[in-house]
Amino acid sequence: MIAIDGPAGSGKSTLARRLALELDLPYLNTGLMYRAVTLEAIRRGVDPDDGAALAEIARGLRFELDRSTRPPELRIEGAPPSPELRSPEVEALVSRVSRHPEVRGILRGEQRRLGHAGGVVEGRDIGTVVFPDATLRVLLTAHPEERAARRARELGEAPLEAVERSIEARDREDERNVPALEPDLELDSTALSPDRVLELVLEALRERIGEA
Ligand code: DC
Repeated sequence: MIAIDGPAGSGKSTLARRLALELDLPYLNTGLMYRAVTLEAIRRGVDPDDGAALAEIARGLRFELDRSTRPPELRIEGAPPSPELRSPEVEALVSRVSRHPEVRGILRGEQRRLGHAGGVVEGRDIGTVVFPDATLRVLLTAHPEERAARRARELGEAPLEAVERSIEARDREDERNVPALEPDLELDSTALSPDRVLELVLEALRERIGEA
């Protein structure tokens, strides 16, 4: 089990996916699970402050790993994660939805179920709470301006200022939701290429396995 924690735009999805391919392990993006609950709440008109109703939604969603893809990846209600999960509407509410302990409890349980046989799991609280016994716990960071620039590019050149504001707001709320991690490896990806980040993590993993 490898845990990749970090804020939005730190490069954790790129790293986690490539690492999963490299190691031939399933890849689990736990942010998509919080996003799925948020999207369903928007569709049903559920109040983002109603923890009990949100927990009901979380309990009703079907999360699985599709083992027919390389790497095996998350399926939600039997389908690949929809692009709507990354919409500004979901983005604006996802931290608020993620705040509820009932919701976190259900999703963390699902994450442990999906990851129990091993995998590369990314999120905000994976190395701290979900898989504290992971073989390697990585904290990936990057300067806020770089994170916003990456996210804006991903969204097709969205206005940088709006993206910066949205990321800052999410950082503030997310920090309240999860404990700080003392990682095995902390990397600042601001000036590193994705290849270099992958290389450094693989090196750290080899060292760790060598030690074990
Ligand atoms: O990784 P992401 O940006 O797609 O995550 C979306 C939101 O979900 C993030 O702002 C906070 C929440 N989240 C969380 O609270 N815990 C996780 N393990 C993953 C995501």
